[in-house]
Amino acid sequence: MSEFSYVNGLYVRSSDASVNVEDRGYQFADGVYEVISVYQAHLVDRDLHFDRLNRSLTELDIPWPCERRVLGVILAKLLKRNGLNNGSVYIQITRGVASRKHAFPTEQTRSSLVITCNRKGIPSSQDLENGVSVVTVKENRWGRRDIKSVSLLPNVMAKQYAVENGAFESWFVDDQLTITEGSSTNAWIVLKGGELVTRPTGTDILSGITRLKLIELAQAKNFHVTERPFTVKEALEAEEAFLTSTTSFVMPVVEIDGKRIGSGIPGPVSEALLQRYREHIIHSAEA
Ligand code: PDD
Repeated sequence: MSEFSYVNGLYVRSSDASVNVEDRGYQFADGVYEVISVYQAHLVDRDLHFDRLNRSLTELDIPWPCERRVLGVILAKLLKRNGLNNGSVYIQITRGVASRKHAFPTEQTRSSLVITCNRKGIPSSQDLENGVSVVTVKENRWGRRDIKSVSLLPNVMAKQYAVENGAFESWFVDDQLTITEGSSTNAWIVLKGGELVTRPTGTDILSGITRLKLIELAQAKNFHVTERPFTVKEALEAEEAFLTSTTSFVMPVVEIDGKRIGSGIPGPVSEALLQRYREHIIHSAEA
């Protein structure tokens, strides 16, 4: 974590930052979040993240803690205060502080806003170069995975399972044996001829900003993108596989459940898309 954080109106030393014990985020995971990459002191795809934040808040009926424009100002100030040029920011908004009752508080509460910065929010170049392995786990999350809720216990358990099995990520598999997404990433495969397949958005996955951007970038390079569910079997038989997220960019997947994908090294399509995504980050910082 960086030196300074933002907590409900104050820029404070992260070591001194604290929240109220009756914050509903703490007691009920009644809140939402965003993670945004920082490149050259620029927030990558900030407006798309703000749009998704707005959607998550609206779906849960949590008011914005401040105007959207003001959130942009706070973020810029915090980056400056931390001297953060490259990394990521974490934004969390909860329904606020109220005495513990499950239903929404009837008294007037104010949404809580907490922002922390991380200098290490970018993927390791070794992982990007060599590719990573994933393991599969049974889908066991709630039915509104489109909301970027801080309620992440199944995701935490799935990532821990990956770590314990020497993998980078876990991919959730539903009752139809299709892969929904990773514990903190979206999943993709590449078929013969370079067709890209990724699950369509809906309530069963998070609509990743990296996923969204990559579809646009891939189509601009004449890749054919099909949004449909795909099975573990299809992934194992695919030419290539990769995962996307703010903090993973376009990460080649070379192994699923100990079985090699394609030639077992990052493929040309994944590499080309990673390159394209990197260019996008650089261009957006220059804009
Ligand atoms: N995770 N799916 C899930 C479940 C996620 O948590 C994330 C992001 C993604 C990819 O979304 P995006 O491309 O917008 O980062 C997909 C963030 C990085 C996290 O929880 O740290």
